Amino acid sequence: MIDTAATLSVKNLTKSFVGQHGIVHALRDVSFEIERGQSLSIVGESGCGKTTAALCIAGLQSLDAGSVTLSGKNFSAASRAEQNQLRSDFGMVFQNPLSALNPRMRIWQSVAEPLRVHQPTLSGEMQHQRAQAALEQVGLGAQHFRAFPGELSGGQLQRVVLARALILNPKLVILDEPTSALDVSIQAQVLNLLQELRDTRGLSYLFITHNLALVEVLTDQVVVMYAGRVVESGPAALVFAKPRHPYTQELIRTIPEATPKNRAAFRAINVGQIQAAAEVGCAYRLRCAHAKIECANVVPPLATQTHAVACLFPLS
Ligand SMILES: Nc1ncnc2c1ncn2[C@@H]1O[C@H](COP(=O)(O)OP(=O)(O)O)[C@@H](O)[C@H]1O
Ligand SMILES: [Mg+2]
Repeated sequence: MIDTAATLSVKNLTKSFVGQHGIVHALRDVSFEIERGQSLSIVGESGCGKTTAALCIAGLQSLDAGSVTLSGKNFSAASRAEQNQLRSDFGMVFQNPLSALNPRMRIWQSVAEPLRVHQPTLSGEMQHQRAQAALEQVGLGAQHFRAFPGELSGGQLQRVVLARALILNPKLVILDEPTSALDVSIQAQVLNLLQELRDTRGLSYLFITHNLALVEVLTDQVVVMYAGRVVESGPAALVFAKPRHPYTQELIRTIPEATPKNRAAFRAINVGQIQAAAEVGCAYRLRCAHAKIECANVVPPLATQTHAVACLFPLS
């Protein structure tokens, strides 16, 4: 019997790249599940592997190892044709909506694009109707249907991209930093819209973000990543109230005062140093106020008490 309890199951996702300075391990054994109608956020600073995880899950990037199962179907083991079919169960929204849209296509045509790929027998008239309905659902009016991307604001464009992600009625929408290119007031509108869509359509979201505060209201589960590994995961309320990994605590602590100066102080370590540290021992030890000698010797396993944490000396 197919298990439909978990919409998405990600197991032991592993991916490395050959970069300018040698091999970069972007994902090291990343696992998590999203249950139907629930939302999960992957958080962590720039370079920790969030976008790579999103691309691997959506089948837009190959995996070195691991598996992605969507509604009981093993996506990563499927043939290309099956993957194309399954891909309609995912909607993707990327950080920069303008670059995600063809500047020479009218808004409704961009929104209808997935229909042309996945339902090629649908008439032009039906495509137009479906695109119109999707655009109305994200709060865009008739005056925008025939516009070109360059004529819309950033917030409107993000709604267009969302309409396109929803047009095939996906079960899961993956949103990679969906609001980071938007003004704060527009961010709030987009988040309200996401909340409304989730409530009315029972959507699951996989958020990718470096801003923990943003995702708090919309998130059931949190996965905290550092240097390609999951260092803490669990129910959002629990992780926020009682972070057990020193890195998570630091992420939460620096939210209100994430000034450039603060960030610079926290990021005074380069990617090469982080990658090197991740080879043996806890990758976070170079920055950790609680690190002890042992932290350089073993990679802490993800151990579950109240929720999962990968730290030899978790905060209590
Ligand atoms: N196509 C690629 N080629 C080489 N290195 C890459 C590629 N994509 C990502 N990386 C590297 O993998 C690491 C994780 O990147 P990414 O997943 O984009 O992180 P995030 O989205 O958390 O900022 C980074 O060190 C990045 O430079
Ligand atoms: Mg990214």
